[in-house]
Amino acid sequence: MSHAVHSLGDCHNIMDFRTLARRRLPYPVFHYIDGGGDDERTLARNTAAFDDIDLVPNVLAGVGTIDTSTTLMGRETSLPLILSPTALQRIFHWQGERAVARVAERHNLWFGISSLSSVSIEEIGANYAGPKMLQYYYHKDRGLNAALVERARAAKFDAIALTVDTIVSGNRERCKRSGFTTPPRLSPSSFLSYATRPAWALNFLFRERFSLPNLETHVAEGSRRAISIQDYFNGMLDPDMDWTAVEKLRDDWGGTFCLKGVMSVADARRAADIGCDAIMVSNHGGRQLDGSRAPFDQLEEIVDAVGDRIEVICDGGVRRGTHVLKALATGAAAASGGRLYLYALAAAGEAGVERAIAILRQEIERGMRLMGVRSVAELNRDMLRRR
Ligand code: FNR
Ligand code: LAC
Repeated sequence: MSHAVHSLGDCHNIMDFRTLARRRLPYPVFHYIDGGGDDERTLARNTAAFDDIDLVPNVLAGVGTIDTSTTLMGRETSLPLILSPTALQRIFHWQGERAVARVAERHNLWFGISSLSSVSIEEIGANYAGPKMLQYYYHKDRGLNAALVERARAAKFDAIALTVDTIVSGNRERCKRSGFTTPPRLSPSSFLSYATRPAWALNFLFRERFSLPNLETHVAEGSRRAISIQDYFNGMLDPDMDWTAVEKLRDDWGGTFCLKGVMSVADARRAADIGCDAIMVSNHGGRQLDGSRAPFDQLEEIVDAVGDRIEVICDGGVRRGTHVLKALATGAAAASGGRLYLYALAAAGEAGVERAIAILRQEIERGMRLMGVRSVAELNRDMLRRR
């Protein structure tokens, strides 16, 4: 059933926020969030994968009182759901990372800020007490790399998550067509889209100047110099990053350490061997290697290989509470996602993210009750069947 989505009150699930975001964003911005690599097969598969496994509920379990909380990377959280780090949030809505951090703190959820966040490490560290990670991009600029570690430490971040699936940029054809850059640049073809979204345009033009404060100390690209994400990755990040670099970063940081973007069993084993605390099984939301496997499809074999040694997080494609339950029943410590809160941020700022998280919380709670499960630890593979 198709239905109209004109306001926040019309949003009853995550995809409704996508509809609203599309109405409110200039198209280059919407397609930057929404799009993936090449033919977007992996982007689609990330969510479709959840449909190949069915839940098998148990009944009569006495589910009047249930507990959705869990412990992740050493901190208690109220849901087994992490808000994955995503770049450039003040381009999506002027409240940006501040809105997401406030909602995460209110719900006591883990969230991440990107190396390319549009609010600084220091501001997030000083103002939000909840569990938080800095997503780390390994740059060619070694001074920048060292500064990011020190800033995360000084701001008392709980973890660093090193992203390992962007050694070069994926081929994002929607962004090539739209000319999306950071900061956004008006192109002749996109001008109309910006002009027909005056609320967005006024906020972008007249609120706090856009910049990437974690990077701006070392590089102008992305803040004072407009650049596409593809050119940023290929020009600024170091494609020679290898396991030696990872071990050095882990040692320099010395705190809770996560690898984001592990897909193979061999890499997962190696991550455990070198003492990572967690891995995010992820293909970057289908934005990098198209044709690569979905995290949920790959989850079982990774959990079997390393689940007793490190926390395995299933990242990407999550649009429903039942997707989270399927990942947990397979053996993930948590599920995580970006678009599940980004569409809502773009649609309505903090109020949007709050509503999206409230909906996901209800979906998880309802799903647990209907599954006959009182705590997330009770979810297990006996409750799953492959079609
Ligand atoms: C991302 N993601 C991402 N990952 C990362 O390590 N650093 C980053 O800066 C970003 N930026 C970013 C921007 C946008 C707009 C999106 C949609 C995603 C990937 C993100 O952390 C996560 O892996 C994916 O979002 C998971 O897929 P879903 O949940 O969006 O389907
Ligand atoms: C992206 C980034 C910045 O996927 O990681 O666009």
